[in-house]
Amino acid sequence: MKRLYTYIIVLCCLSFKMAGQENTAPAKEIIFTETKDLSLIMTLTKDSTLEFSYFGLKITDPSPFLKKTSYRRVDYGTEKLVYPAAGGRNFKEPALSITHANGDINTDLMYISHKRVTGMSDNVQQTEIVFRDRKLPLYVYMTIRAFWKENVITQSVKIKNDEDTTVVLHNFSSGYLPIKAQKYFLSTFSGAWAKEMTMEETQLTQGMKTIQSRKGVRTTLTENPSFVLSLDKPLSENEGHVIAGALAWSGNYILNFELDEFQILSIQGGMNPYSSEYFLKKGEELITPEMIFTYSSCGAGGASRNLHDWARNYVIYNARDIRPTLLNSWEGAYFNFNEKKLLKMIDDAHSLGLEMFVLDDGWFGNKYPRNDSNAGLGDWQVNKSKIPSGIEKLTDYALKKKLKFGLWIEPEMVNPQSELAMKHPEWITGTQGRPFTTIRNQYLLDLTNPEVQNFIFNTIDNILKSSPGISYLKWDANRHAESVGSTYLPEKEQSHFWIKYTQGLYHIYENIREKYPNIIIQSCSSGGGRVDFGIMKYTQEVWVSDNTDPRSRIFIQYGTNMIYPALVSGSHVSASPNHQTNNQTPLKFRFDLAMTGRLGMELQPENMSSEDIKFSKNAILTYKQIRDIIMEGDLYRILSPYNNHGYYALSYISKNKKRAVVFGFCFEFQGRTITPLLQLNGLNPYKNYKITELNTEQPTFWGDGLIFSGQYLINEGINPKLQKCYDSIVLLLEEIDETNN
Ligand code: DGJ
Repeated sequence: MKRLYTYIIVLCCLSFKMAGQENTAPAKEIIFTETKDLSLIMTLTKDSTLEFSYFGLKITDPSPFLKKTSYRRVDYGTEKLVYPAAGGRNFKEPALSITHANGDINTDLMYISHKRVTGMSDNVQQTEIVFRDRKLPLYVYMTIRAFWKENVITQSVKIKNDEDTTVVLHNFSSGYLPIKAQKYFLSTFSGAWAKEMTMEETQLTQGMKTIQSRKGVRTTLTENPSFVLSLDKPLSENEGHVIAGALAWSGNYILNFELDEFQILSIQGGMNPYSSEYFLKKGEELITPEMIFTYSSCGAGGASRNLHDWARNYVIYNARDIRPTLLNSWEGAYFNFNEKKLLKMIDDAHSLGLEMFVLDDGWFGNKYPRNDSNAGLGDWQVNKSKIPSGIEKLTDYALKKKLKFGLWIEPEMVNPQSELAMKHPEWITGTQGRPFTTIRNQYLLDLTNPEVQNFIFNTIDNILKSSPGISYLKWDANRHAESVGSTYLPEKEQSHFWIKYTQGLYHIYENIREKYPNIIIQSCSSGGGRVDFGIMKYTQEVWVSDNTDPRSRIFIQYGTNMIYPALVSGSHVSASPNHQTNNQTPLKFRFDLAMTGRLGMELQPENMSSEDIKFSKNAILTYKQIRDIIMEGDLYRILSPYNNHGYYALSYISKNKKRAVVFGFCFEFQGRTITPLLQLNGLNPYKNYKITELNTEQPTFWGDGLIFSGQYLINEGINPKLQKCYDSIVLLLEEIDETNN
């Protein structure tokens, strides 16, 4: 049955004068969008202004919004506009600001029309709203998509110039959401290299809080374009009203949270206007990325699950594919390898029971061999002295052992010491007469230039054609954009660089996806520098951090999986002491934590003891048996690592609630007085579950092998033995088939 998501309520029709013309239009309408549990309501006023009325839990009958009055005097310029522009009646941070062809700096958008787009899936409803400046032929087409089951709503716009000549866009947000609550507690995700996605909550006060990136490339390394907003009280996991959101864009972005004198919070997100004035010639248009929102009355947990379902169903590339476990060569070999060493690592990966070997940085460059980060980047020919028989020999060898093969690339970058940099200096981002800066000894290629886009596509195409055994690419990007400038872009359009760079990147990805739909791609950017819903349209997974220490990863993955589902988070067991932090952790702790995402290993197996090898083999086998629950199940966080005495616990529960896996970690010693209590929300209270402790030969939990009711597990909870620093536990819960008892 087709559901009706959007409709209009026409109150009456009036004839009124507007923009110098007689118009016949309804005086007041409601544009109503709904999902299974949510409503988004906009109202059209008599003068064709489209106002934002409501976003929250379902209101099936929106008609009172036609009569609603605020009892306050009309404060011209403070209305909750659906897409406020600079000038006209808006004093808030504008979603849109324009210098028109005639120099006019005011824009005042009026509603023209809207329609429901038919013919889409039963689950998705698309509404398109057309706005026009009251005076000049400048149009905004807003697209709102509502995802019924997932309770997600997305907004984006297309800005079109039909004026006589060029207009200049200064602000161009994707979406704007004014909401009303008593108090606002905003959680954002920030950090730095090797400590990405640290979650921090702030109570908003009047004024504006902004998160943004101006880095162009590693745009999510220090702040992620996503948020969780708790209404009225601080965020909690299982209850409370929460709006969560994210922007699907891999370039400079900005998210503004502006709290005004009426206690209205306007949430606004889009491409960052920083140094990005955008010139639209007559007839041209700019399309913005999607801003994504969800709302849940079940706290952070409910909001995360909505976003995870939506991302798995509509965003992540081939989300249903099984993610192979892997051995990555980086921390095990860095740049120091030869064919013999790699073949041995493939042997070891195979005997550990892993499913793929990934050859990381260092395999290319001959004139300027890539033996460290100083040289060779850009010269994508196999290094003959390290790998004389070529990549194909390695892929064949791996395939014979039934192992997939993956390869590292960093196609957007070039070392000054490379044949490419010498041959094509004009492809390097920078401005003549100013210093060309290196970061990690490398320059950025100018992806606004179609020749560079073709070069990158052809490079990847050649690699994949000459080694058809490659089934995975790790796409790295180890610097950001600075001192930008393009020899390709016209002088007057240098400010288009930031937007065109990201569009160029997506264009390359589209071509690759067209030709290689099945290749697995990991988005990596010095670790978590490109973790966003924009890149996930093309990639199956992300490398969330270069920090592989499980203690740090607890926080990094906790933050990442607030927004992005576990199946995208590459999560590797590495050596102890850890190479980034020097922290020492037991192998079991490292495995247990890595198993909460897409499991891999990143160490030199040769250096492992036979005991560790044995443990690893069992853990990898176990992971394969529960991987579907982690990848496809619902995430129920149990104890946050931020406020639970050094405990962290989470569970994944299969959609039919028949199987679940629970992970518990202790990462600080708290004496013997505190033991964690894990209440297992999300299970079926009316079923019985058998508990089996995994990843151990000697179970530590007294309930191992016993059967518990769902009610017991939810209400009383379990008390696993997590007492010492780096104790950890993994429990499998399986519903007991009552018919056999
Ligand atoms: C940064 C990545 O995040 C690492 O995993 C590794 O691939 C190095 N680059 C290689 O240079």
